[in-house]
Amino acid sequence: MTENDFVFKKVATTLKDGQFTWKAPSNIALVKYWGKKENQIPANPSISLTLDACATTTTLSYRKRESGGSGFSFELFFEGKQKDSFKPKIQTFFERVETYLPFLRSYDFKIETSNSFPHSSGIASSASGMAALALCLMSMEKQMNPAIEDTYFNKKASFLARLGSGSACRSIAGSLVQWGGTDVVESSSNLFGIDYPYDVHADFKTYHDTILLVHKGQKTVSSSVGHNLMHNHPFAENRFVQAHHNLEKLKGILVSGDLDAFMGLVESEALTLHAMMLSSNPYFILMKPQTLEIINRIWDFRNRTKTPICFTLDAGANVHVLYPEKVKEIAIQFIKDELIAYCENGHYICDKVGAGAKRLR
Ligand code: PMV
Repeated sequence: MTENDFVFKKVATTLKDGQFTWKAPSNIALVKYWGKKENQIPANPSISLTLDACATTTTLSYRKRESGGSGFSFELFFEGKQKDSFKPKIQTFFERVETYLPFLRSYDFKIETSNSFPHSSGIASSASGMAALALCLMSMEKQMNPAIEDTYFNKKASFLARLGSGSACRSIAGSLVQWGGTDVVESSSNLFGIDYPYDVHADFKTYHDTILLVHKGQKTVSSSVGHNLMHNHPFAENRFVQAHHNLEKLKGILVSGDLDAFMGLVESEALTLHAMMLSSNPYFILMKPQTLEIINRIWDFRNRTKTPICFTLDAGANVHVLYPEKVKEIAIQFIKDELIAYCENGHYICDKVGAGAKRLR
């Protein structure tokens, strides 16, 4: 598929007013996306587990504009309060997707959004937030054009979400989502995420992710700045090649359920992501001392007890502790006994693999 497939088809129906509500999950990448080309095209393919508990719920209300204004018209409420500081991000998103949703200037919108995870927990809400908004806009398009089928609906929602925030395209449908063109995954695309189309060992269908909130404040360097620093990065090309190889290796691991190989690959991906930050120009560090303490504790526990428990990191200091359902009790006990002490105010979130976004209304 190409961008042209997502251009809006002229329809006779126009909508007067109404609203849609979608709940979209967050996701955690196993093979990381870091570095992008123009128009939010990823420099390498990535794959993520869809989360369940960490999600954004968005209600989009729309009313046909009486007199045509020239700009976009929208109000934004975050957790019940008007939040003008989020508006520039939505404005940019609307500008990027207007070609594909040409009706955007014809409506007054109200966007009401809230997260299931605590405010400023250091968990990125851009993936779930952009996914939820893209899905609401797709519901509008489908209302105008009921012939749209589910497969196209999800692809276009992912395509639009990607234009808001790259990783958001992996928060639409499926519990394991792949994004970025690669020979290893049939029908993979740089334009949208796809529900991973191959067999997956039962262990990975119920995997747990306990998110340790090490640092709840604002990140010192945003993801967009980090992605940009991959241009002219001395190790970028090798990193992109490595991501392709890791995706290929992971394909086998996902079938076999080889947890040792899984943990090795996932931890290496997390540390490589941060190694790219450490070796950018200018360089930066998003990990905190507690992040490293937690990593060392996990390694020590794994060596001592042979429990298949590992970590991954996002672009931040928080640690995602990953383990299969079958060791849930032992893992939670270990987390409580040894890791919670490193979390800000002892806070953590118990999450696991989820199934994707849901329309609520
Ligand atoms: O979606 P963005 O532009 O915020 O980038 C996120 C990149 C990582 O979360 C660090 C990795 C990934 O693949 O999700």
